[in-house]
Amino acid sequence: MYLVTGATGALGRRIVRQLREQELPVRAFARLTSNYGELEDRGAAIFIGDLQEERDIAKATRDVKYIISTHGSGSNAQKIDYRANIDLIDNAIANKVEHFVFISVLGADRGYQDSPVFKAKREVEKYLIASGLNYTILRPSGFASNLLPLAERFRDTGIYLLIGDAKNRTSVVSTDDLAKIAIASITTPTAKNQIFPVGGAEILTRGDIPRIFAEVFQREPIIINPPLFLFDGLRTGIGLINPQLQKSLGTLRTLLSNEFFCTSEEIIYLESTFNIKMEFLADFLKRYYSKQ
Ligand SMILES: NC(=O)c1ccc[n+]([C@@H]2O[C@H](COP(=O)([O-])OP(=O)(O)OC[C@H]3O[C@@H](n4cnc5c(N)ncnc54)[C@H](OP(=O)(O)O)[C@@H]3O)[C@@H](O)[C@H]2O)c1
Repeated sequence: MYLVTGATGALGRRIVRQLREQELPVRAFARLTSNYGELEDRGAAIFIGDLQEERDIAKATRDVKYIISTHGSGSNAQKIDYRANIDLIDNAIANKVEHFVFISVLGADRGYQDSPVFKAKREVEKYLIASGLNYTILRPSGFASNLLPLAERFRDTGIYLLIGDAKNRTSVVSTDDLAKIAIASITTPTAKNQIFPVGGAEILTRGDIPRIFAEVFQREPIIINPPLFLFDGLRTGIGLINPQLQKSLGTLRTLLSNEFFCTSEEIIYLESTFNIKMEFLADFLKRYYSKQ
């Protein structure tokens, strides 16, 4: 049995779909408020729980052979990105789980102090490595699926909002490729107890993204490019009313102000380890919109 946490998220949903396409048994951890109907229709066993509850994690991990942890918090890094993963790992040890796949983030090891999520990811990585479990840690760059709402706004208006430096580099990864790699990590001997940076086929600048949208949707881009200090000013203002939200925005600030890309050598190594050809962003978008 595979346990997938974050099963209703962009990545988790794709992992559950692919596991079910291979007719593998899946327990999908979901909240009662989540949209899990599609996963149930595909034959996943839905486990209703809350990752903030250790007893739910203890129940969900019973009789499980493999765990793929894909959940993410948005704003509650302490409880969801950190504590829920520590509880998952402890219960994985107690239940003699054979392999634990953890979705971290590219740059988790760079010590970004402004981002609670990056710090949580790194602490979980360290805990997992020391746990004695067989593991694979994947450190992806930004997901292509994150860009879909921006692509749709671009398709309808031509407008693209680019905050900060357009020259910063990124390796947007196809969320479907990442799902494939997460599953293959369990059966690929050379992925055991390894950490992999995961990016797409090409190194892009953030300014390339509206140009790719322009190619896909055949329209001229109108790029609105406010400088980062405007975001910082807004964040400081928010801090006066809601200090917790100001802290959470630290992760977005980290993402906007730094480069997150994989080197060509890292992508070649990834492709050869998992026998996969990473998808270009334009191809991901064309594939996605051709199905609609
Ligand atoms: N998106 C990116 O660009 C990116 C880049 C690098 C790394 N990552 C990492 O990759 C992973 C997957 O990201 P994603 O974008 O697919 O995530 P996502 O779409 O934001 O989904 C988050 C998932 O976590 C679940 N969740 C949150 N709190 C929960 C709780 N208390 N109990 C049970 N489930 C809970 C959500 O359930 P609901 O459906 O109920 O909300 C959802 O299924 C995350 O660990 C993220 O940090 C993401």
